[in-house]
Amino acid sequence: MHVFAIETSCDETAAAWVDSAQPLGKRILAQCVRSQIPLHQANQGVVPEIAARAHLEWLPLAVQQVMDESGQDLDRVDAIAATTGPGLIGGLTVGTSFAKSLSLASGKPFVAVNHLAGHALSLRLSHDLRFPYLLLLVSGGHCQVLAVEGVGRYRRWGTTIDDAVGEAFDKVGRLLDLPYPGGPHLEALAEDGDPQAFALPRPLRGQPGCDFSFSGLKTAVRRQIEQLDAPLTRSQRADLAASFQAAAAESLADRARQAMIRFRAEYGGPGVLAVAGGVAANQSIRTALAQEAAAADFAYAAAPLALCGDNAAMIAWAALEQLEAGGSASPLDTLCRPRWP
Ligand code: KG4
Ligand code: ZN
Repeated sequence: MHVFAIETSCDETAAAWVDSAQPLGKRILAQCVRSQIPLHQANQGVVPEIAARAHLEWLPLAVQQVMDESGQDLDRVDAIAATTGPGLIGGLTVGTSFAKSLSLASGKPFVAVNHLAGHALSLRLSHDLRFPYLLLLVSGGHCQVLAVEGVGRYRRWGTTIDDAVGEAFDKVGRLLDLPYPGGPHLEALAEDGDPQAFALPRPLRGQPGCDFSFSGLKTAVRRQIEQLDAPLTRSQRADLAASFQAAAAESLADRARQAMIRFRAEYGGPGVLAVAGGVAANQSIRTALAQEAAAADFAYAAAPLALCGDNAAMIAWAALEQLEAGGSASPLDTLCRPRWP
């Protein structure tokens, strides 16, 4: 099955062409992910209106690029998909309207996809992964543990009670004067630091359940900075970054451990711990989770770096899985949903 998809729920303008008949690793015939980070940097965060306008300007180019690179045209496609939520309503509306227009013009079915379902199923685009599996979805907007039982069958076992982990990376990045978004810059800075230099809390460690909390950790970093003489030296900043990153990784690993205990109890044995979302690009976190999975006798699957952050290939894949599972196309009057659990 061939699916063309569009993703515009936040600050990446993305399009992709996926063909399920290809072997693993070759299913994405073409994809374009254009990051709006330079547009939002001055505001240290995504400005919805600016994001929507940029999607409007860039999306036709992204679509054209994917059509050209895939060497396909819409006659070949089985469905045209778009993220219809959750996300910023302006961007969602731009992408969804574009996909509906392509559908109307080509006579091919339109498929509405939940962005989180895209992340949840994306591991099956890159890995030979059977249901059920455990997914840690860690990004700037989301921080969840899901038991993925099948297409459309997601059980949320835990979520953050305050900040998402990516949000915490970005806020700590700001405290350390790093460019937006802080996550990747903080990881680079942490390379030169000592993860044990500062004793920071491991939120919720050892507590039952799979919920997360990161705002206390972020506040602990702020307090630590206030106790040091300003301005911080580069080595102090690197130590703070490394100490924060270690605490965040340990906290995620601890929550994953609780989730694996529950998985074992509910499904009668070990399974696969999978991780996706922008923060899954972080090497320390990937390593911490891989070790935790091995200790629990679980297999481990981390999304390839190109599929960690937001992208349209995962949306095409989710649409394809929905259709293959017997789901129907979506009506053209399907509305976008800013909130869609
Ligand atoms: O999935 P994503 O592209 O967008 C959503 O939030 O949905 O994730 C972006 C988040 C940002 O908070 C960014 O700082 C974080 O992922 N991030 C990282 C790394 N790369 C991206 N956090 C830690 N280490 C990284 N290498
Ligand atoms: Zn996302």
